[in-house]
Amino acid sequence: MNILLIGSGGREHALSQAIVASPLCARLLIAPGNPGTAEHGTNVALDISDHQAVAELCRREVVEFVVVGPEAPLVAGIVDDLEAEGIKVFGPTRAAAQLEGSKSFTKEFARDFDIPTAAFARFTDPAAAKAYVRDTGAPIVVKADGLAAGKGVVVAETVEEAEAAIDLMLGGGLGLAGAEIVVEECLFGEEASVFALCDGTRALPLGTAQDHKRAEDGDRGPNTGGMGAYSPATLITPELDEEIMARIIRPTLDGMRQRGTPFVGILYAGLMVTADGPKLIEYNVRFGDPEAQVLLPRLRTDIVAAMLAARDGVLEEIRGLSWSDFPAVTVVMATKGYPGPVERGSAIRGVDEAGQMENVTVFQAGTARDADGGLVAAGGRVLAVTALAPTFAEAQARAYEGIAAIDWPEGFCRSDIGRRAVEREASVKGDAT
Ligand code: AMP
Ligand code: GLY
Repeated sequence: MNILLIGSGGREHALSQAIVASPLCARLLIAPGNPGTAEHGTNVALDISDHQAVAELCRREVVEFVVVGPEAPLVAGIVDDLEAEGIKVFGPTRAAAQLEGSKSFTKEFARDFDIPTAAFARFTDPAAAKAYVRDTGAPIVVKADGLAAGKGVVVAETVEEAEAAIDLMLGGGLGLAGAEIVVEECLFGEEASVFALCDGTRALPLGTAQDHKRAEDGDRGPNTGGMGAYSPATLITPELDEEIMARIIRPTLDGMRQRGTPFVGILYAGLMVTADGPKLIEYNVRFGDPEAQVLLPRLRTDIVAAMLAARDGVLEEIRGLSWSDFPAVTVVMATKGYPGPVERGSAIRGVDEAGQMENVTVFQAGTARDADGGLVAAGGRVLAVTALAPTFAEAQARAYEGIAAIDWPEGFCRSDIGRRAVEREASVKGDAT
């Protein structure tokens, strides 16, 4: 069948690689795509917020299945609009995508269905929010309700910092996304992400990952979209995985179905593993970026067959997913200055050489071709270099060998991606000897 993939980041490069590997895929189109996705299919310049234009493309190119990578089109209802035109789409409806699109929706949902999460209150009035913060004390977390491209969460160490965040968000500093806020209890523990493939009723575990959100080594510096990731998340033991499925993922599917808005797609739970067990920090309704760049290269099952079964509500036909035994590490290269403003157009060399190294894949995100066909930087996060190897230590070393093969003076990366997994692996080995 002909398949259309929506999106243009490193996640979509990883998705395009997994989709073309499926015997079910005759032709892959990517809208708008990037130079990396062009290696696996045909990029189509298109305004993806214009759902009618997407539907027309599907009719013109006889597209039978659409896969949506990023959250914004899902929250804007692209699944509803294309399905209404008779086009099969993998992803949640607008109503189900509220699990990512609205933090207050998710907090109230979690409360209604007994899903463990931080205590919270919702506000539109700054004075009331500040009174609550003064009563509760710091540390405390202030969140914009809507999608704010990673800028909507402030973990405030002091009451003053929390008050400043309240003023910024409710004062319009994040636009409509901050018209309402959630103030919540600060959780302590280690974070991990769990992914599930959902058909509205059933959930199949789709792997685990940990990402590195801060820009600098040692988890310092500003928050970013993610500077690297590894999979599996070794913090999540099989027992903990079952607890997360039983207390968080399955109750979410049951609750959404009971409400008449069943969840179909990728449910990505951001969790804090606390002394009291796993707690939900937030949901995303799609693959993570760069988490997809470590999850998908490990997947051995046909992703298209699995996504089609989920879309059709017959996930029981997929008898579990199979994975490479090798762990994966991905290191993001970003343009210097990220997550602040960056210069575009610097030349990147060595991507092909790095990609030819055994078990190394270079995923492209913010890249473009210049007039001569050379690869140039065109955004903040530009590349994600993924390596699979028998151990985390080897995967990490291999990913950094890939990075070393890339000649791009204007780029930077963290030098400690995967550190926790490598340390945990070393301590397990130490115990065994
Ligand atoms: P989010 O944008 O919702 O993923 O939040 C960004 C980051 O803020 C998370 O990855 C956590 O590190 C942190 N965070 C969010 N909520 C809490 C919380 N209740 N307690 C502690 N940290 C939090
Ligand atoms: N890496 C975090 C995200 O995709 O939201």
